[in-house]
Amino acid sequence: MAETLEFPTGHVRLGSSAGQPITRRDGHLKVTGAAPYAADNRPDGLLHAVYAVSTVARGRVTELDVAAAEAHPGVVAVYTPANRPALMRDPDEKVHMFSWRMEALQDDTVRYAGQPIALVIAETFEAATEGARLLAPSYASEPARIGFDRGVSYEPEAVGVGAPPRLEKGDVAAGRAAAARTVEATYVTPHQYHNAMEPHAIVAEWDGDHLTIDVPNQAIDIARGDFASFFGIPAENVLLRSPFIGGGFGSKAILNGPQVLCILAARELRRPVKLVMRRDQMFGPVGHRGATRQHLSLSMDAEGRLTALEHHAESTTSSFDDFLEPAANASQNLYATPALLTRHTGIRVDTGTPGPVRAPGEASGSAALECAMDEAAEACGLDPLEFRLRNYAETDPATGRPFSSKALRQCYAEGAKRFGWAGRPLAPRQMRDDAGFLVGWGMGTAMFPCPMFQADARAVLRDDGTAVVSLSAVEMGQGALTSIAQIAADGLGLEADKVEFRAGSSDLPSGGIAGGSGHTATAGSAVFAAGSDAIRQLSEIATQDPASPLFGAGNAGVVGRGGRLHRADDESRSESYAAILSRAGRPHIEGNGTGARNQTDADEYAMFTHGAVFAEVKVDPDLYQIRVSRLVGAFAAGRIINPRLARSQLTGGMIWGLSFALHEEAFHDPRTGRPMNGDLAGYHVPVNADAPSVEALLIDEEDRHVNALGVKGVGEVGITGSVGAIANAIWHATGVRVRRFPIHIADILG
Ligand code: MOS
Repeated sequence: MAETLEFPTGHVRLGSSAGQPITRRDGHLKVTGAAPYAADNRPDGLLHAVYAVSTVARGRVTELDVAAAEAHPGVVAVYTPANRPALMRDPDEKVHMFSWRMEALQDDTVRYAGQPIALVIAETFEAATEGARLLAPSYASEPARIGFDRGVSYEPEAVGVGAPPRLEKGDVAAGRAAAARTVEATYVTPHQYHNAMEPHAIVAEWDGDHLTIDVPNQAIDIARGDFASFFGIPAENVLLRSPFIGGGFGSKAILNGPQVLCILAARELRRPVKLVMRRDQMFGPVGHRGATRQHLSLSMDAEGRLTALEHHAESTTSSFDDFLEPAANASQNLYATPALLTRHTGIRVDTGTPGPVRAPGEASGSAALECAMDEAAEACGLDPLEFRLRNYAETDPATGRPFSSKALRQCYAEGAKRFGWAGRPLAPRQMRDDAGFLVGWGMGTAMFPCPMFQADARAVLRDDGTAVVSLSAVEMGQGALTSIAQIAADGLGLEADKVEFRAGSSDLPSGGIAGGSGHTATAGSAVFAAGSDAIRQLSEIATQDPASPLFGAGNAGVVGRGGRLHRADDESRSESYAAILSRAGRPHIEGNGTGARNQTDADEYAMFTHGAVFAEVKVDPDLYQIRVSRLVGAFAAGRIINPRLARSQLTGGMIWGLSFALHEEAFHDPRTGRPMNGDLAGYHVPVNADAPSVEALLIDEEDRHVNALGVKGVGEVGITGSVGAIANAIWHATGVRVRRFPIHIADILG
């Protein structure tokens, strides 16, 4: 068994601040409108940029009326592929795993509708908008390839971000042959666009060869270097400020062409430039979730145990870049089966390139898998919960590794109890409420990996007993400024109000990536380690100082708590941090720390967050209008740093699941390739009235391997079980299996 990662010192305790359900530290700023978002910045001399978009999906731009745009009195400059100043990096180059090909006016080709084809800079936003309109482009266009069957299919080399496209374990043919029953079904999921509340925005300002950009970004350190590389300046010359993000959902982890063009314009014109995307412009160059068509085949023996599980996902990507929603991979790590086959086919269509969106792969893949599990349970005559209890895996089917810890059985039990699952009739259309609505109950298993990235942090302890902890962590609404600061306070053994927490800026140590539900684990580990390092240094000063009550206690023999160091063997002997530093004549000491996964543990254990989601739907027996009347989820996510915020994340995830099941869907006109519902009126997301009762239970789980803090993630797992739970409840209410998302009234009418 591998050794668990321990921080270098044992003299700080986790748990005084961490674990408390405190409210958001930035709550007041948010509700008073004082929290600055990128577009709120208005430096002196600001110019405004608006880009023109292609209205065709494939071909070339043959004409732009640049003269007309330039003649507009407010217009300052017009950039097209004909005059766009050079960049130091090819926008079509992929330099690392998180770089996507982008459109920065490198040529006149059109690869999708909504692509930037020119940039207009003006004294006002209105003038820039009008200038962009005056360009009146003409095209040589070719027919758009939209839809699974008009796209070009290919065998991918990777899916998601660098994941293998195919996994085969055991003998699938033998598993099928051994089956008493086999269920086969195909599920379709739509193109979804992130649609964060805050649109993509950037304000760029140059000072010589130094660049300041205000831009919402989920991976500040990576983005800083990427932006720098387009302009041939060192990363240190870029100050990227991203103190608050109004939702990222994956789209703000990746650079896009309009951002680069805005920075370029600011350099050329020697004035700050702001670019804010319109809502409809967010259906193009900033990523989306590709559509999937997933073929599931589940084979079971007479006892209802899987003998083979096959999951083949067709995933759309653009014509020019690869990001395939790794949907089939959702079947790799959950259910025990002697034979497993997951694989993917890519379909090139004329849309922008997809990217990570809220549980990329897990959301769409789990939707299909959990529906197929429900169909398999029905085929076996088993209750869906009982069927899962017979099939969930104790060791990871993909790797054979044991789960680092596993409270899934408890999630099933507690969730079912809270929901009141017992006594659910097996057959559909058996339940009605007092108003005569059809009532159905369904469930799904939730699961999400717990990745860690790499982060560095600095903790400065001052001789007045306060501290400053800093790293470029990202607050995108999830509560990072609160929960990571709680860990920071515990790392230093200080009350939370004594710790100033600085984040959201590239001049701080790298906070890693706010993504993959791994931010608290990664950045939290870094700040805890940095605090521990500062306290270790403080301990050395105190235990070597004859004037200290801690003199001679030895390094491992003291513990920091409430701003004081105590002897571990006699806690009545203690001294304040301030007194120790003051007497030593040290105005401050600086600790540094890193957060990253322990590779030995990662090689031996499978690391996942688990959960179980139960849904109740009510369906109008005449109109077939669907209401999700209750959602109950139980989640085991390791140590919970802040139960209030964790519940908020988990219920938020469940609502995204509801959104996936019933609401979200982008339509691309098959003739033009244009998104037909590129606004929040046509692209539906749930509102409060759609989610009257959503409850997340936190199941205690101690994980000694995932990281030293025992922290997993809560950002995305809530989506995964919820989609299937709702679809399965709709079947239970109506007797209709809908295999296409989102589920429409018409699908139930048949
Ligand atoms: Mo995400 S899709 O992990 O920002």
